[in-house]
Amino acid sequence: MLDTARWTVLAPLLQAATAGRDLLDDTIRRLTPAAVAAEVLREIGEHDVRLDLSFDGQTTTHLCTDAEVVITLDLADAVRGLYGTGSRPWPSLAVTTPDPDLDERGIAGWFQDRKGVAQSVQELLSALKPGHRDLGELAVEHGSDKWGDLHWYTQHYERHFAHMRDEPVRLLEIGIGGYDDPDRGGGSLRMWQRYFRRGLVHGLDIARKNVIGPRIMTVLGDQSDAGFLDRMGRELGPFDVVIDDGSHLNEHVRTSFHALFPHVRAGGLYVVEDLQTAYWPSWGGHPEATAGTSMGMLKSFVDGLNQAEVRDPRGEGSYLERNISGISFHHNIAFVEKGLNAEEGGPAFLRTLI
Ligand SMILES: C[S@@+](CC[C@H](N)C(=O)[O-])C[C@H]1O[C@@H](n2cnc3c(N)ncnc32)[C@H](O)[C@@H]1O
Repeated sequence: MLDTARWTVLAPLLQAATAGRDLLDDTIRRLTPAAVAAEVLREIGEHDVRLDLSFDGQTTTHLCTDAEVVITLDLADAVRGLYGTGSRPWPSLAVTTPDPDLDERGIAGWFQDRKGVAQSVQELLSALKPGHRDLGELAVEHGSDKWGDLHWYTQHYERHFAHMRDEPVRLLEIGIGGYDDPDRGGGSLRMWQRYFRRGLVHGLDIARKNVIGPRIMTVLGDQSDAGFLDRMGRELGPFDVVIDDGSHLNEHVRTSFHALFPHVRAGGLYVVEDLQTAYWPSWGGHPEATAGTSMGMLKSFVDGLNQAEVRDPRGEGSYLERNISGISFHHNIAFVEKGLNAEEGGPAFLRTLI
């Protein structure tokens, strides 16, 4: 079942966060301050201070409501901290702290207590304005197997994804992990959610999964069912990134690619992991990665890049030939770039000149 209502508030908010203040304020009014505050709180998690969020003259109290340390912030500034460009200082921040009881702890004790106050305040502000962290570090923290656990993929992901890290990307990963156990897996979804701080992260698995996150959505389905994938693409896409880390059966990889590549946005990437199975017959592969294998399919796209040189130079070409603009191969992983590949070929007279 696709939960298409899930992003009703977040998707417009992620877009508006980098716009001018008038547009952001209008978006918050339209979505309602209460719904926007709920998304902000989901994103930052629990903290032991009180957070007062103000907007249009109204203030609402959140987090540890009876805490004596109170941080007051404009709701739009909180949204900008989380999903904006990240560079500006807080224009509306105020911190109030309890009156010191000097009789009890003395001046030295009061200075000591202030360190704890500063730490609590800083933890909340860091959650409200997350910084950039290395993908390998995030993989280890969130238990993704893309770094160190059989694979060393994050170095390649950094190289191909860095330019869109701060964009409001829509990502789909086939294969959530943990197989039949609903409570296992999801390490990579949690890693992507933190790498793409403005990203909406979708995970597809054939087994039901309980992975929860402010910008994570899980989908139950089979990557070998082309009709289902097409419906999912129309409802949740277009995607900026699709990653196939599912069954790794060669036939499934090919079916998923053909069904989902049309749902990748121009400028986006389709990534296929664990290409070693292309060489393993029990997975539907072949030691030479021939035409019916996942690597065979990807290798054919390399020739497709130069299709205009072997066809009528002004001919149409197939959908994939016209829409794959680049491919990068690394050990066991490939990145297919979506973009218009429609340059004209060399003129007919040159082809037979020598
Ligand atoms: C290698 S794990 C995924 C690991 C995960 N991507 C990560 O990085 O943490 C493979 C997952 O693919 C799922 N899977 C297997 N066959 C599938 C299919 N036909 N369609 C969708 N998911 C499938 C399995 O249930 C399993 O959870």
